Amino acid sequence: MISRTSELGSIGRSEQGVPYNAKDFERISQFLHSTAGIRLDEANERMVYARLAARVQQLGFPSFAAYIDMATSPKNSEERDRLISALTTNTTHFYRESHHFDYLSETVLPELVARARAGERIRIWSAGCSTGEEAYSIAICLLAAFPDAASHDIKILATDIDREALERAKAANYAPAGLRSLAKAILDQRFDAISSNGHRTPKPAVKSLVTFRQLNLMSDWPFSGQFDVIFCRNVAIYMDALTQERIWTRFQQVMRPSAHLFIGHSERLSASLKSSFALVGKTIYRHI
Ligand SMILES: C[S@@+](CC[C@H](N)C(=O)[O-])C[C@H]1O[C@@H](n2cnc3c(N)ncnc32)[C@H](O)[C@@H]1O
Repeated sequence: MISRTSELGSIGRSEQGVPYNAKDFERISQFLHSTAGIRLDEANERMVYARLAARVQQLGFPSFAAYIDMATSPKNSEERDRLISALTTNTTHFYRESHHFDYLSETVLPELVARARAGERIRIWSAGCSTGEEAYSIAICLLAAFPDAASHDIKILATDIDREALERAKAANYAPAGLRSLAKAILDQRFDAISSNGHRTPKPAVKSLVTFRQLNLMSDWPFSGQFDVIFCRNVAIYMDALTQERIWTRFQQVMRPSAHLFIGHSERLSASLKSSFALVGKTIYRHI
């Protein structure tokens, strides 16, 4: 596979490998940063090779450099999506950081449900939703608080840059290992029966509350209304401080006054935003 030529500070290849060097890694890093805001560091050099080498070979490119020329071209949007998908980190699970869902159910939803019942439009956004577990966890909480949610104007938008993750989110066919964090009562009530391979799918009542869309947080956001809740967890952690701050600032612009923002356990809002967001729980903010 790959071997490091330490005196040159670059990566070489062995007999079976596809040619890959430090310049290739640098180009991929720059592409990912300018396109998705994600930063890679030297520790990711091998990861990049491992995730892309099979694709480079499958397409018959003689080197990474040739593949990068093709895949990063704006003309080849399908391969660009595929490249981004290969490089994103999609780790997630149902009820991840469960205290967020406790807060959502106990503190946020009662107020939102009352407003929805009074005829208001309520929008919840799972930004960087990966394979859908976060959005469906929100939907399950919402159904518990508001069984007739579907007949009111209350909806969950779930977006991600990664088209392949979104396809899996829409298919919503979850393997047993991914369902471990769910109580049996929730599985019985909110999921279809176990399929022959042990997989389970949220019931139509859960799925119908969520709309999945591809959206790059670095691009324009095509929203007309404002959000009452934003979950953007474990997404900004892969970005540099400036990009994080830009995204938090843009969230503020699409949030209703008093709306809630949930971020990941190792993420923090920058000091410049402290006057716009009050910390109301562990990594939970309320827009002032
Ligand atoms: C680690 S997952 C987090 C999933 C979920 N929010 C959670 O906390 O369990 C990070 C997700 O952010 C997405 N992502 C990364 N950069 C993005 C960008 N610029 N725009 C939209 N989504 C992005 C990735 O594709 C990935 O699915």
